[in-house]
Amino acid sequence: MNTGKKIRVVVTGAAGKMGQAVMKGVFEDPDCSLVGAVDVTLIGTDVGKLIRSENIGVKIERDLQQVLEETQPDVMVDFTNAEAAFDNIMIALKSNVYPIVGTTGLAEKEMEEIQNFCENTNIGAFFAPNFAIGAVLMMQCAKIAARFLPDVEIIELHHDKKLDSPSGTALRTAELIALERNSYSKDTEQKLIERLEGCRGGDLEGIHIHSVRLPGLVAHQEVVFGGLGQTFSIRHDSISRESFIPGVLLAIKEAPKRKGVIIGLENLMDI
Ligand SMILES: NC(=O)c1ccc[n+]([C@@H]2O[C@H](COP(=O)([O-])OP(=O)(O)OC[C@H]3O[C@@H](n4cnc5c(N)ncnc54)[C@H](O)[C@@H]3O)[C@@H](O)[C@H]2O)c1
Repeated sequence: MNTGKKIRVVVTGAAGKMGQAVMKGVFEDPDCSLVGAVDVTLIGTDVGKLIRSENIGVKIERDLQQVLEETQPDVMVDFTNAEAAFDNIMIALKSNVYPIVGTTGLAEKEMEEIQNFCENTNIGAFFAPNFAIGAVLMMQCAKIAARFLPDVEIIELHHDKKLDSPSGTALRTAELIALERNSYSKDTEQKLIERLEGCRGGDLEGIHIHSVRLPGLVAHQEVVFGGLGQTFSIRHDSISRESFIPGVLLAIKEAPKRKGVIIGLENLMDI
C-alpha cells in the first residue's frame, strides 16, 4: 500500500451499472486515483464519457493482467458477475493487488480457494454482500431482534436484471440470524400444503427467504419478525446506486490495512 499517496484503483466491470458508479466515486475522491478500467464490453471507451462529460485519459481495456502490470494499482474493485469474479480475484491476488469485491454469487468452493490463497500469502481480500451503510445497520439490527423474536422471514426485492437469487444480502442476513438463534427450530407438527411449488420461498436453516424481481426496483430488503400479538419489520431501501459508494470508498481506504479475508462492511465500521 502507498502511504501518504493516493490509493491507485482499478475497476473491473467498468462498463456496468455498479462499475460506472464506483469509477465516479473513486475519480471524485481526493484520496484515490482511478488508474485502470476493465470490462469485456465498451473496450477503448474513455471512462470520462461514462462518468463525466469529458475524457479523463483512462480507457476501458479487456486484459486485466496487462492492466495490473501497466498501472501497478493498490486495489482492484470488482463488480462483474459470479462467473467472471473468481478469475479476476485470483489474477489480482497473484499480482499482489488487494481485491475489493462487490460481486455476489461466488461459489463456496471458490471462496475456500481464495481463503486458502490468502492464508498462504501475505495478502488479504475484502467482500461485502452489501456496501450500503444502511443495509449493514439493517443486518445488525436483525441480529439483535432475532434473540428476542426468533420467528422471522426475509423479503428481498431487486431490479429484474439481477441474475442471482436470493441476494447476497438476504443470505448474509439469514446466516447472521441463524447464528443468533442458535438451535432454535419452529414446531413443525403442522402439515403444510404448498399449492404452488416454491411459494414459501427458499429456506436457510428454517428462515424463509422470498425474492422479488421487478423493473423499477434497485435493492431493497425487509426482515419481518413475528411474536405473540406483534410483528416487527426492519426495512432498507437503496434508492440509487450511489448508496453503495461511501461503503466502497471506506473499504478501499480501510480494508487493505488489515490481514486476511474480511467478509462484511460491518467489520470496518465501529458497531
Ligand atoms: N455488494 C454490493 O453492495 C452490490 C451492489 C450492487 C450490485 N452488486 C453485485 O455487483 C455485480 C454487478 O452488478 P451490476 O448491476 O453492475 O451488473 P452489470 O451487469 O450492470 O455490470 C457487470 C459488468 O461486468 C462486465 N463483465 C462481465 N464479465 C467480465 C469480465 N470477465 N471482466 C470484466 N468485466 C466483466 C459486464 O460486461 C458488465 O459491464 C452483481 O454481482 C451484483 O449482484 C453488489
